[in-house]
Amino acid sequence: MFKKLLIAIVALGCLGLAGFAALAWRPAIAPVARPTAGSFAPELVARGEALAGGGYCAACHTAKGGEKFTGGYAMETPFGAIYSTNITPDPETGIGSWSETAFRRAMHEGVSRDGSHLLPVFSYDHFTKLSDDDVRALYAYFMSRTPVRAPRKANGIPFPFNIRYLQAGWKLLFFAPGRFKPDAEKSAEWNRGAYLALGLSHCGACHTPRNLLGAEISGNAYGGAVIDNWVAPPLTAANPAPAPWTYEELYDYLRPGTSKLHGTAAGPMFPVVQGLGALPDSDIHALATYFADLDKAADRLPYVSGAVSLAMSSAAAKQGAPFDADAQLYTAACASCHYNATNAPLAARPDLALNSAVHLSDPSNLIQVILRGISSAEGTPDFVMPAFGGALSDADVARIAAYLRRTRTSLPPWPDLAARIAEIRRHINAAN
Ligand code: HEC
Ligand code: HEC
Ligand code: HEC
Repeated sequence: MFKKLLIAIVALGCLGLAGFAALAWRPAIAPVARPTAGSFAPELVARGEALAGGGYCAACHTAKGGEKFTGGYAMETPFGAIYSTNITPDPETGIGSWSETAFRRAMHEGVSRDGSHLLPVFSYDHFTKLSDDDVRALYAYFMSRTPVRAPRKANGIPFPFNIRYLQAGWKLLFFAPGRFKPDAEKSAEWNRGAYLALGLSHCGACHTPRNLLGAEISGNAYGGAVIDNWVAPPLTAANPAPAPWTYEELYDYLRPGTSKLHGTAAGPMFPVVQGLGALPDSDIHALATYFADLDKAADRLPYVSGAVSLAMSSAAAKQGAPFDADAQLYTAACASCHYNATNAPLAARPDLALNSAVHLSDPSNLIQVILRGISSAEGTPDFVMPAFGGALSDADVARIAAYLRRTRTSLPPWPDLAARIAEIRRHINAAN
């Protein structure tokens, strides 16, 4: 795979030599004196703050234990680690000397103030959809932060991927600059949801699969993808959960963070729910409207109650069933919390037969949740799912996962569970 990539990049490089140089060149935009915080209307700054939440700027631009927005957060990509940058208004190491024009060019075109091309791990391929007004509000917000000195960290990506010039080739192939265009056939609320999903909140950055060169595959929008050893499940009709993601379920998942018929936003989805918390309620309704349409929830609505009762009955202990050592292990470790005595699930203890983690073709999310747990700070506030990483061996986790797959779904068993568990455990240990 790596060889193929190299060939593609080298081919791009050669193709470029003639006309490419002119095409790739962007001028530097002259530095300006930092505008004072008081020069922006407070309402504009407040709107920018909400937008910064809905765009998760802090999640990527803050290193573990570092100061907010000072960058240095490492993003692991197949091409090597890429570090985010300081976006506080420090004139030397941040964006303090950037004019609004320079900031808008970065957001809309992925070009830094000095004219160099930015890498698409910065979601400019989505931010290009932002209106000029929203970019202005973001600019006002960031320029009103306290400047912090924090020099940029050198990226770990190897030659030739580190040549910023070549990014122009990537853009030529995969980047469609331009503001959001509303669909006149759809409601204003749907269009607001689409604006957020495609632009500011870039749901596709995790939920849409990418090609070998790291670009989202536009023909498979929200088709589901792997991110940081988790799966961002499909948000289309291909979503594997027994109950459809209806408008109400989506709203509950995106705002409080828990849906009764599905589960909880954990792992990389948790900071998303946290960031969306800054947006007004109407925006969360808009996102739910857009995705409920996209996943065709209405078509599946008549089957919800059947799917839920089937799931609830699969969890009930079977009278007179033969002895099952895996069932016993599951009961001992999990069933004290994950039982539902009624025929409707409670949000406080997600019914595992309804949870996507058990139905996805990749077991990563189930393994992640078992090993890491969900702390009281994540997921639903104050609810704790204990971490079993220290208490259960890889073999035990594999038995529980295989047991849930075998009893809660009619899907084929997961191959190579043990290897996957060992890999995720290594990943978790390395991060700590
Ligand atoms: C998915 C992670 C991610 C998110 C979300 C993100 N950024 Fe970034 N951003 C990056 C990375 C990584 C870079 C550095 C790219 C490079 O080196 O080419 C960057 C670069 C930038 C730059 C260019 C800085 C420079 O010195 O050239 C600006 C401006 C910026 N981001 C603003 C924002 C704003 C505003 C938001 C929220 C609306 C945001 N970013 C959200 C990862 C992210
Ligand atoms: C940083 C990556 C990332 C971004 C951005 C992201 N998601 Fe997710 N999403 C995930 C992951 C990972 C999961 C699985 C979480 C879990 O199992 O607890 C997930 C789960 C979900 C689920 C539950 C699916 C299921 O079947 O269980 C929904 C719904 C969802 N995301 C919607 C969205 C929406 C809407 C947006 C944009 C507003 C979004 N996501 C942005 C990574 C992301
Ligand atoms: C002490 C109670 C408790 C025990 C024991 C427990 N869980 Fe949980 N589990 C929870 C709670 C509470 C949640 C919901 C967390 C939230 O909403 O923040 C949860 C959530 C989950 C989820 C859903 C995650 C998502 O992203 O939607 C899965 C899967 C899960 N647990 C599996 C298990 C398995 C497997 C076991 C046994 C190894 C287990 N749990 C043991 C309390 C528990």
